[in-house]
Amino acid sequence: MASPKPIDYGARMTDPNVAKRAAAYAAANLVQDGTTIGLGSGSTFLFVLERLAERIRNEGLKVRGTPTSNGTAAAAQAHGIPLVALEDIEQLDLAIDGADEVDPQKNLIKGGGAAHTRERIVAATAKELVVIVGENKMIDVLGKAFRLPVEVLPFGWTHARRRVEATGCTTELRQKDGQTLVTDNGNWILDCTYPGIADPAALAKDLDSMVGVVDHGLFVGMTGRVVIASDAGDVRILP
Ligand code: 5RP
Repeated sequence: MASPKPIDYGARMTDPNVAKRAAAYAAANLVQDGTTIGLGSGSTFLFVLERLAERIRNEGLKVRGTPTSNGTAAAAQAHGIPLVALEDIEQLDLAIDGADEVDPQKNLIKGGGAAHTRERIVAATAKELVVIVGENKMIDVLGKAFRLPVEVLPFGWTHARRRVEATGCTTELRQKDGQTLVTDNGNWILDCTYPGIADPAALAKDLDSMVGVVDHGLFVGMTGRVVIASDAGDVRILP
């Protein structure tokens, strides 16, 4: 009889949802009764909605949310979370969102889901932006591994591209299903490859003042607490 094949534990995949859910649940547990919060976008953030819905059911939590994307708005509604438009409120008590990269100063690259323009507006309107990530998103220098998304107006976009590339990157127009991706704002995304972003504040300032650029995914000095989860689901919070 052939001997059984040994189990290759090294080849066992970790489930990325363990870290995502752990970070998201820890952040959702920070939400206080009677508050209005910014609802981020992305696969990690979806677990925040799951936990908020659970708290609404189990604890009678009263909360309203301002979504950062059409996708999040639909998901929040499906979870029974009441929505309020950003125009109709003075300030958000808290915003919770994912990120693509976080550096030691808590600067971020966001926009993997093409929602960074609304995410920045919502974060800027909140008393605190709480960021939720897996440990793998904590890096030394922004932009070495993840491309920086820059949202541009379609009108004359090649000129915006030339200006963006003059900051020291190469760019690619983001595609989805064989077509140019169109953001919730009706714009396009340039994914920008840098050798690493040595001075995120200086680059953000350059991009902020660039004609044809709507917004970019660099969040500099905007982050409050960072909730970080390991693959095993252990959570730590950077204050
Ligand atoms: C969307 C974002 C997301 O927060 C970011 O891309 C992280 O997404 P995920 O949780 O799916 O990794 O910035 O624009």
